[in-house]
Amino acid sequence: MAELNDTHSMSYDKALELSRALEADIRANPHRHVLLTGDRPTGRLHIGHYFGSLLNRVELSRLGLRTFILIADYQVLTDHEAFSDIKENTLNLVIDNIAAGLAPGKNTVFFPHSYIPELNQLMLPFLTLVSSAELSRNPTVKDEIASAGLKSVNEGMYTYPVHQACDILFCKGTVVPVGKDQLPHLEITRLIARRFNENYAKGTPVFPVPFALLSRSPSILGLDGNQKMSKSRGNAVMLSASEDETAALIKKAKTDSDRNITYDPQGRPEVANLLLLVSLCTGETPEDVAGRIGDKGAGALKQALTEALNEKLRPLRAERKRLERDPGWIRQVLRDGVAAARQVAAETLSEVRRAMNMDHLE
Ligand code: TRP
Repeated sequence: MAELNDTHSMSYDKALELSRALEADIRANPHRHVLLTGDRPTGRLHIGHYFGSLLNRVELSRLGLRTFILIADYQVLTDHEAFSDIKENTLNLVIDNIAAGLAPGKNTVFFPHSYIPELNQLMLPFLTLVSSAELSRNPTVKDEIASAGLKSVNEGMYTYPVHQACDILFCKGTVVPVGKDQLPHLEITRLIARRFNENYAKGTPVFPVPFALLSRSPSILGLDGNQKMSKSRGNAVMLSASEDETAALIKKAKTDSDRNITYDPQGRPEVANLLLLVSLCTGETPEDVAGRIGDKGAGALKQALTEALNEKLRPLRAERKRLERDPGWIRQVLRDGVAAARQVAAETLSEVRRAMNMDHLE
């Protein structure tokens, strides 16, 4: 993979090309890779997360990679919204991931990053490796500032991408499954890894330069046709929803007045989105689903989606219910994850101290 390592700032196409090369390398050498991914505990997950990232995570972890699933609880503080629910949201995030098929154990660990002091200790040296100009031009951070409507922007907003570099580098992550909006953050991580190695560790790099793994599944719109499915917009089917709630939500989904169902993502985005969802559940192509429904209209399409989705999610939802009844076990999963992650983080921190000539007590 050495030839892939010399990209600085890159376009989406370039990131996609690297991501595909990375996938091939993961399949060929799963044990050479470390997967690290994270979510902010801001709410339960919905079917957009499921088809867009959870299934992908499950597939990757089954290849045998060491897998770190991080709960980014500190990152929630940057926009001051949801922190009263952090504890409950953290448990629910773990439940959603396990119900989707990630098996906690030696190879797959879950932990909140606030619980890993050694990870957080990387923050100070890393902050010295980037300039405030580099941090303030991050387009994802700019978008978040605009949409959070904050009166004053706290410094955590500009520096959390550096903290994200601590998240990824403490375990020497090489594979970071993310959506497009996270690419600027990954660039900062790559920059920090390179600069740390250049400044402090010439000859024997401490950090691998990680890669973004972009999802192959097409992005899913909200049921109202909005670009983003999200709980707060009321246009999302939550994984934890009941079958009746699922049916009611799909019934209200936006469609159009043409009774003949065709797959036309440009001209008929809402209908196409429902067809895509059926196809993700049944394994058919969206065109075949459209052909099967034909002129039976949007009502029949919604009926087909309700059945396909409820059937697809039935085992996950049953597992979810079972896990919800046992929060003590979920907390134990987190305790085990914290212990495993701290051990790895402590080893990395000693290497960092040594490289920086700050191992004063050794
Ligand atoms: N910034 C990510 C988000 O908003 C969450 C996150 C935190 C993350 N640390 C990470 C993602 C490390 C990937 C790797 O969704």
